[in-house]
Amino acid sequence: MRAVPLSDLPEEEAIHLELSGVPICLARSDGVVHALLDECSHGQVALSDGEVTGGVVECWLHGSCFDLVTGVPTGPPAMVPVPVYPIRVVADIVEVAI
Ligand code: FES
Repeated sequence: MRAVPLSDLPEEEAIHLELSGVPICLARSDGVVHALLDECSHGQVALSDGEVTGGVVECWLHGSCFDLVTGVPTGPPAMVPVPVYPIRVVADIVEVAI
């Protein structure tokens, strides 16, 4: 599913998208784009409002970081992974498979 032009996603930032009713956190880190469910597994707040750095996104509310590749939290209080979705870039457009 077409999401956004790659140029709309700055390095080390995340944006919120709604694709087919699914909230998506689209994040770019170290030059790689990742798509996760845009909902922290701890407190149901948007991960796209958090900080992206070094391959993780940090939840702004309690500070759990989620690996952008696996969706696994790297520390408490979150314990449950968030779903991740495959992406590809075609002709500079980011596409997300949901
Ligand atoms: S709401 Fe995200 S870590 Fe608590």
